[in-house]
Amino acid sequence: MKIAFVSSEVFPYAKTGGLADVAGSLPIELAKLGHEVKVFMPNYNSIDHNKYFINRREDIPEFPVRVGGWDRNVKLYNGFLPNSNVEIIFIDHPYYFHRNKIYTNNWDEDERFILFQKGMIESLQRLQWKPDIIHCNDWQTGLIPLLIKDNYKWDRFFDNIAFVYTIHNIAYQGRFGKDTLLRAEIDEKFFNPPGIIEHDGDVNFMKAAIMMSEVVNTVSNTYAKELLTSEYGAGMENYLKYREQDFYGIINGIDYDIWNPEKDKLIPYHYSIDNFEGKKKNKQFLAEKFGLSYHEDIPLIGIISRMVSQKGFDIIAPIMNDLMKMNIQLVVLGSGESHYQSLFNQFAYYYPNKVGAYIGFNNELSHLIEAGSDIFLMPSHYEPCGLNQIYSLKYGTVPVVRKTGGLADTVQDWNEYNSYGMNIGNGFSFYDYSSSALLQSIKRAVNDFHNKPVWEKIIRNGMVKDYSWKHSAEEYVDLYKKAVQKI
Ligand code: ADP
Ligand code: GLC
Repeated sequence: MKIAFVSSEVFPYAKTGGLADVAGSLPIELAKLGHEVKVFMPNYNSIDHNKYFINRREDIPEFPVRVGGWDRNVKLYNGFLPNSNVEIIFIDHPYYFHRNKIYTNNWDEDERFILFQKGMIESLQRLQWKPDIIHCNDWQTGLIPLLIKDNYKWDRFFDNIAFVYTIHNIAYQGRFGKDTLLRAEIDEKFFNPPGIIEHDGDVNFMKAAIMMSEVVNTVSNTYAKELLTSEYGAGMENYLKYREQDFYGIINGIDYDIWNPEKDKLIPYHYSIDNFEGKKKNKQFLAEKFGLSYHEDIPLIGIISRMVSQKGFDIIAPIMNDLMKMNIQLVVLGSGESHYQSLFNQFAYYYPNKVGAYIGFNNELSHLIEAGSDIFLMPSHYEPCGLNQIYSLKYGTVPVVRKTGGLADTVQDWNEYNSYGMNIGNGFSFYDYSSSALLQSIKRAVNDFHNKPVWEKIIRNGMVKDYSWKHSAEEYVDLYKKAVQKI
């Protein structure tokens, strides 16, 4: 099959979260299964063209793309995803994409991604490369099915393309005022009730994708079920129920070439399940980097996260003082809402030997925290898939998570047994979104940390489990086949 994979972020070029990891690795896995894949993303100015051998596609002259009645000139650049033959096409328009940020709160955020989507569509025309599947991800690509099925339907080139839409996070829907219709040149009939692009009086990119794609999925089974409820569906639940027959959950895979303690290029000491010494050295290296004294017997807890309420900071904040009374250390890497940032800065200031905080984005440090921590904290309010807990399992770093979404599908509590009565626990989890439930789980984890045979078993259960992409990529291929059958 020919698959066009469209994403607003792709690792290693530009990343704010897990979507980039998925977009940088799933296409390679699909190519390994014999499919022809091209990836499309915007050409942000932060992307290092020299480092990643990115060049102008000179064979395609600059072309105009209309946004809000204006012709915006688009250039195409290309490269190949690292160690692969998967071409990645960068849609370039400096006015929109050279803003030192992937996402902005600027008034023309809608236009930025309208240009990206139309630019992507028109680049298919120019490249004369017709995919069987266009795989769209999150709101920034949500208009593509509607645009192709309506605005571009005059061009028979687009006949018989099937659309797959993956929801990585329901909270970000691409909601804009009605005037966005004009900017995208979308017919008003799609807005008027029960319009496929209208929700709560706004234009909603995600809804348009849910309604117009042959197949819709999200990134874990539990989250797929949760999304059908009003508690988690963020207003999209009824549309998803309407599409329930075509709505699936596929857990994300992990790129074990990048996230693997046996060969991770970004950590100082390699280690494996059979040779764990390197992990202790990483712990010491990490502790000292943050100015914390190193103690083999004091559990070091790590957090790596976008600092937004999704990730559970509202239940962490009230127990910070309780945590400080325990014999633990905490390192935090993240950025986002300022009150969360200052929370950790303050605790790092008042407890310099207990808390280390790095506010910002730092890829190398994220690998070191996975490798050097004993426990990983991820008490998310909701979590479509979550990658850090899966990285943690591989790095022998025991996750403490809230049992929701992908966290529930990947982390089993140490108290859980399989049908053969075997203890399959690889971490600690709790249901209630409450500080007390979280604190109790952390205390259980810290207790078992001191019980060496139990701790080793928990670590082993996590490290032996295979979360590589192969299986999930095969599930995507099945999904693509289902989508093709629907046209
Ligand atoms: P989400 O996509 O919701 O942020 P995931 O767990 O799926 O959550 O993925 C987060 C990804 O972003 C992981 O690869 C994680 O290591 C990375 N990440 C998050 N915050 C930072 C940060 N401040 N610095 C470096 N990497 C980060
Ligand atoms: C989103 C979700 C996260 C998921 C990632 C990749 O950002 O918040 O849970 O792992 O996308 O699918």
